[in-house]
Amino acid sequence: MFDPKDLMDRLSRADPTYYTLGICEKIASKLDRILELKTERNAVVLAHNYQRPEIFEIADFTGDSLGLSLSAAEVKDADVIVFCGVHFMAETAKVVSPSKKVILPNLQAGCSLADTADAEDVRVRIAELREQYPDLGVVCYVNTTAAVKAQCDACCTSANAVGVIQAMPNDVILYIPDENMAAHAQKRIPEKIIIPWEGNCYVHHEITAESVKHIKEIRPNMKVLVHPECREDVVKLADAALSTSGMIKFAQKSDANEFLAVTECGLSDLLTIEVPDKQFFRACKICRFMKMITLDNIIQTLETLQPEITLPEDVRAGAERSIKRMFELTSPDRLPEALVVS
Ligand code: 13P
Ligand code: SF4
Repeated sequence: MFDPKDLMDRLSRADPTYYTLGICEKIASKLDRILELKTERNAVVLAHNYQRPEIFEIADFTGDSLGLSLSAAEVKDADVIVFCGVHFMAETAKVVSPSKKVILPNLQAGCSLADTADAEDVRVRIAELREQYPDLGVVCYVNTTAAVKAQCDACCTSANAVGVIQAMPNDVILYIPDENMAAHAQKRIPEKIIIPWEGNCYVHHEITAESVKHIKEIRPNMKVLVHPECREDVVKLADAALSTSGMIKFAQKSDANEFLAVTECGLSDLLTIEVPDKQFFRACKICRFMKMITLDNIIQTLETLQPEITLPEDVRAGAERSIKRMFELTSPDRLPEALVVS
């Protein structure tokens, strides 16, 4: 049973005005119901680092896209995966864990970055570019649909994009769909030609270098952690450009006491809860899609086992190939057992 007072002590670190005792009493009774349903349904809950703080309380695993793909592939004993994140992430869980029922508590939780790359447009663009560059390699960010992943040579995440592009045997790479990440990778890999897709994440693209510089002037000793989906002039101001889980590890291990997490605000919430002895400043924006998952729709989804994520087998197998290639290129030792045997 969840204790409202304990919950308030923890969650109010992220937002003391919202997480009052009254709100935490309501949250506690919903969390208790979710625990009952998880047992009844033999379900595990995976939650992305940008989720609402109360969702971390019932998550079996919290992480970035790379960590979530690994943990989805490693789910063995459960029948159901409840994915608290956005649609392409739930699809990825289905790709690597096809025998499980994967449910996304709110089907509206899409990703406007993933939506910039329509599968048919990708097919046409690859065909056009291959006329010009017969040896073109295609790398897609995990923030794409499974139908796009199935057309790429390798997938990547924010934790390994530069490593994947570097390890590809091709000199010319089409990078889909984030133009800011493509620019970031191009700076670090000048020996290759990286052709960007025209897409960006509205959350990260809206964060300006001026806003980061302003906070840096006030707290000069603060370490600046930037997500690679930000514009290149923002990435330039970073002490480290990292995935969301990379930022958490950096803050935990660093000798510094003050940090600025330049990414979606859920990560700043998580840092204030998980690393209470350090101070976190914010230059963040809210992702409206990530915040569409609530305790109420998790309860409903566990009661009905809907909406379920399904994929045609050829699309699933194609996407699996590109995810498998990502592990082979950068971290073969981390290739999940489920992907080795398939
Ligand atoms: P991470 O893989 O770094 O968690 O990023 C996912 C994402 O959607 C960033 O906007
Ligand atoms: Fe998509 Fe951006 Fe939201 Fe991440 S933060 S899920 S890239 S819209």
